[in-house]
Amino acid sequence: GAPVEVDISKIEPGQLIRVEWRGKPVWVVSRTESVLNELEQHDGSLRDPASEQEQQPSYAQNKYRSIKSDLFVAVGICTHLGCSPTYLPDSFGEQVEGVSSGFFCPCHGSKFDMAGRVFQSVPAPLNLVVPPHYYVDDTTILIG
Ligand code: FES
Repeated sequence: GAPVEVDISKIEPGQLIRVEWRGKPVWVVSRTESVLNELEQHDGSLRDPASEQEQQPSYAQNKYRSIKSDLFVAVGICTHLGCSPTYLPDSFGEQVEGVSSGFFCPCHGSKFDMAGRVFQSVPAPLNLVVPPHYYVDDTTILIG
């Protein structure tokens, strides 16, 4: 499939932009400073906090799983059985302590944090996939 260009010039803090790449949903999520701070505080509740169990681009092998810390790019497909998780920017619910936002899969209840990292005690085995991508310039990402 052809690479897909995403215009991020108008993305607002907290916003999720959804595009389609090779028939899959791909998300670009704008993360605020408080979201980034939160990401550093719940490693103990994650299945694979350092993303060691899955393949991902080398430029996403960092604590934010992204090239730029404020922009998270991920394939929006649950690693359990392939449903598309719901983005919950403000209210992740109370089951996961200390985490106020993330992605919730309605099919069997898997939860992922704002870096797409899966929580323990849910059916999904792996973190969300980071697709190959790069920044063409400050306002354009090319997926694929
Ligand atoms: Fe997402 Fe099963 S497909 S939890």
